[in-house]
Amino acid sequence: MSKKILLEHIDVPGIETLAVYREKGGYASVEKALKTMTPDAIVEEVKKSGLRGRGGAGFPTGMKWSFLAKPEGVARYLVCNADESEPGTFKDRYLMEKIPHALIEGMITSSFALGANTSYIYVRGEYFYIIKILEKAIADAYAAGWLGKNILGTGYDLDLYVQAGAGAYICGEETALLESLEGKRGNPRIKPPFPAIAGLYGCPTVVNNVETIAAVVPIVNNGGDWYAGIGIGRSTGTKLISASGHINKPGVYEIEMGITVEDFIYSDEYCGGIKNGKKLKAVVAGGSSVPILPAEMILTTANGEKRLMSYESLADGGFATGTMLGSGGFIVMDETTSIVQNLHTFARFYHHESCGQCSPCREGTGWMEKILHKILEGHGTLEDVDLLWEIQRKIEGNTICPLGDAAAWPVASAIRHFRHEFEEYVKNPSAIKDVKHYHNMHNLVTA
Ligand SMILES: Cc1cc2nc3c(=O)[nH]c(=O)nc-3n(C[C@H](O)[C@H](O)[C@H](O)COP(=O)(O)O)c2cc1C
Repeated sequence: MSKKILLEHIDVPGIETLAVYREKGGYASVEKALKTMTPDAIVEEVKKSGLRGRGGAGFPTGMKWSFLAKPEGVARYLVCNADESEPGTFKDRYLMEKIPHALIEGMITSSFALGANTSYIYVRGEYFYIIKILEKAIADAYAAGWLGKNILGTGYDLDLYVQAGAGAYICGEETALLESLEGKRGNPRIKPPFPAIAGLYGCPTVVNNVETIAAVVPIVNNGGDWYAGIGIGRSTGTKLISASGHINKPGVYEIEMGITVEDFIYSDEYCGGIKNGKKLKAVVAGGSSVPILPAEMILTTANGEKRLMSYESLADGGFATGTMLGSGGFIVMDETTSIVQNLHTFARFYHHESCGQCSPCREGTGWMEKILHKILEGHGTLEDVDLLWEIQRKIEGNTICPLGDAAAWPVASAIRHFRHEFEEYVKNPSAIKDVKHYHNMHNLVTA
């Protein structure tokens, strides 16, 4: 069953305005938090809720908040990660565009909980129209007294700024984001120290995804136990899923954690099945970085149970037969899809987006792209497939930030589950009907 919490009022005309958002109960969490709760009590509710970061890694939000250092006389910051550049993921954009005040409200309540008096929303630079929407919402919130000095007469001050991102996927990695926010090139920092100890301008900082921060609003309004009662196991609450690919109804869906993958793909409430009556071939369940799974593995775990839309169930079986929920970018591929071509597209992306600091990632992503290109051009050998496997293995775990892993996992999983397709390209490239299409596309792209 569909469960709408974040998107409950998405279809209400004018919900993007402060007036209508208020009519629907908006900003109640700010009133409740600032007037009746201590910051520590809010952190406690968030802990109880079991909320996990929606940016990809799924780290428990309450725990992250409780790690925040609080040295006397030192500023603390909350930074919202709205860089959303993972291929297949577009849910933050949807939320910010349709209900911008949900994020602003979450930022105020969360900033109060963390003791931050200055907070930032770092928005993907290409989302320029979203930046305008947020700036208008923030201006309205200031005018109504929800931001600025002495909010609701409680003595709490908060300034909230929107910063346009620098146009690079790497700036979504939290420490690269902080570098970029400080006006520098967005190169990831070596951790530790973690941002909770030394983040923005060397001060204790929490970085959270848009959806994570928006989820704090209903948690504060209804209590952590209420939120923990929704979902399944350690995957509490709801999750926004960006659904794309060969499905009848692409879009952003809010699901209760724990529905079956089968239901999500085939029911009319969500994706509405595979387009043109074709068969499902594979799914990338959590954005381009996570392992691709063939149809039978995404629908069913190795134990023969129906796979669920949850952190645990999607990961069941490890990388041998499982994958990750990641950022919820759910890309569906039908039987006509070439896994090798698709992988080449991803590999080009990661090569282009590598910041170049770490040699395994800088060099390895380029090598992987070149080898895949060679295979698609019809000049590949079986040794190339083995070489591809070796390169991804040497990138994984050997870089400062997880972009290296993000580039390696799609390659590893494609070879693990679809090696026969690579071999077909090598043995009989002219028999692959899509190669011509690939050439045309590639010429267009490189022309
Ligand atoms: C290359 C790379 C890109 C990332 N891009 C994003 C992003 O666009 N948005 C996001 O919220 N997290 C992104 N992350 C994850 C962040 O580093 C960080 O874990 C997240 O913002 C924490 O928020 P959360 O705990 O609310 O999930 C990215 C990580 C990597 C390695």
